[in-house]
Amino acid sequence: ICRFPLIPVRGIPLMCYIANNWDSIWAFRPDPSDLLIATYPKAGTTWTQEIVDLLQNNGDAEACKRAPTPVRSPFLEIFSPPPIPSGLDQLKKTDPPRIIKTHLPLQLVPTGFWENKCKVIYVARNAKDNLVSYFHFDCMNLTQPEPGPWEGYIPKFMRGELPWGSWYDHVKGYWTERETKNILYLFYEDMKENPRREVERIMRYLDLSVSDEVISRIVELTSFKNMKENPMANYSCVPAPVFDQSISSFMRKGEVGDWRNHFTPEQSKMFDEDYEKQMKDVNIPFRDLI
Ligand code: A3P
Repeated sequence: ICRFPLIPVRGIPLMCYIANNWDSIWAFRPDPSDLLIATYPKAGTTWTQEIVDLLQNNGDAEACKRAPTPVRSPFLEIFSPPPIPSGLDQLKKTDPPRIIKTHLPLQLVPTGFWENKCKVIYVARNAKDNLVSYFHFDCMNLTQPEPGPWEGYIPKFMRGELPWGSWYDHVKGYWTERETKNILYLFYEDMKENPRREVERIMRYLDLSVSDEVISRIVELTSFKNMKENPMANYSCVPAPVFDQSISSFMRKGEVGDWRNHFTPEQSKMFDEDYEKQMKDVNIPFRDLI
């Protein structure tokens, strides 16, 4: 295991094993029945995967255990640090309809998803909490570039010098196209505030109908506490050298506003000033940032 370097693909820094296999990823043709869950890393991907999986299995946690990987949905991107199998190979071996997960920014999503009008769920999380979560993740994920000290990580995030590029461009890209491409755009903070409402929203988007009782069960099964203890969701099945969960748990804290325990007032001010500039062309209703 080593911390892999980043290589830009059309200006977006990606892990080298993705960049080196870019042509096969770009050529991937989904089925119209496939669902894409897209996020900037650490915005609530796993939570959303768990909700979707349970909705599709009518709240039956046992049925969900038949998922192809302990982490539910194969990554579209090749995730090759051995012994993790390539997500693309897994996808090719699985019959549609599939749930496919990606962290690619919208412009790098293979065009077949749009041509086939696949459903896409995007989850966004406020920049400061997303940054904090990514920092802890980069400490424990021994395949990503070293995060370095906290003070230096903030400017790297602001400049988009992290795997998958700029958070700002990522959230804006999907936001701008959400109507033309029929993307369900969710917010982590909304999911925390009223998980039931958001589970129902996902259910309607997927044209599913499950009973109120099943919704309640899904909300319970996908609480932070339960997911932290669920080996299908907490990434404890990922072979040890990739994630060192003694450094930081994958299910770390699961809260809104944890950034207040990390940013100094000066760091927060500097971040806010830059944020205003980078986000001035859109009005995405992020909360809990100030
Ligand atoms: P923290 O590091 O802030 O705790 P992703 O799945 O996109 O990698 O995102 C991981 C983040 O989502 C982590 O954030 C994790 O704790 C949080 N998370 C995962 N499941 C959650 C849940 N059921 N409720 C709240 N937060 C959850």
